[in-house]
Amino acid sequence: RILGIIFDLDGVITDTAEFHYKAWQWLADREGLSFDRTVNEQLRGVSRRKSLEIILKGSNMEEERILRCMDDKNAYYQTLLEGISRQDILPGVEDLLKGIRRRGWKISLASASRNARFILEKLELISFFDGLSDGYSVVRPKPAPDVFIHAAGQLGLPVTQCIVVEDAEAGVKAALEGGMKTVGIGPENRVGAAHIRYDEPGLIALDDLQSLIPG
Ligand code: BG6
Ligand code: MG
Repeated sequence: RILGIIFDLDGVITDTAEFHYKAWQWLADREGLSFDRTVNEQLRGVSRRKSLEIILKGSNMEEERILRCMDDKNAYYQTLLEGISRQDILPGVEDLLKGIRRRGWKISLASASRNARFILEKLELISFFDGLSDGYSVVRPKPAPDVFIHAAGQLGLPVTQCIVVEDAEAGVKAALEGGMKTVGIGPENRVGAAHIRYDEPGLIALDDLQSLIPG
């Protein structure tokens, strides 16, 4: 049976959290908003707009300024992304992708990011992917299951044949909601709801994935 392995990007394939942090910190300083690493942890897997709302902590901002802040943060983030390369692929991930292909399974991306394609190209991993769903593909962000369902559709596979790999609480929730088997990357208190959990993506064993979907 052909399985579809659907990967989140940030925190699973590469660790862009530090770049997001630097960009939000830059914006927060400019706007006179308080922000630190603890707040940044809450932004894992969260859409750009929702991230800004979390940083604003309920204080009001005009729609026009919200849009400008999102654009400016992204422009800053993109300058940081210019520097990424194959060296920023998390350990073991490329071998994992190769192993999945050798089994004849399919691979798709399901990321909240609108920079996902650019990042996969910079990492020189784009050719591994049969499908790519990103921040442009669906309206409702994670924890809604939409981006994962979109990704399964791109692979032409039913959700029951797909396995999601996620590092964010919102992402695990979304995958479970979509009826998919879920692999959590990170600590128990973050991704403990997943069917199986590893500390790092490089530790994922293909036989474990196979046994999540027997038959
Ligand atoms: C997710 C990140 O993958 O994408 C979030 O974990 C980020 O931190 C979100 O906010 C949206 O990304 P972007 O690149 O479109 O701002
Ligand atoms: Mg992530």
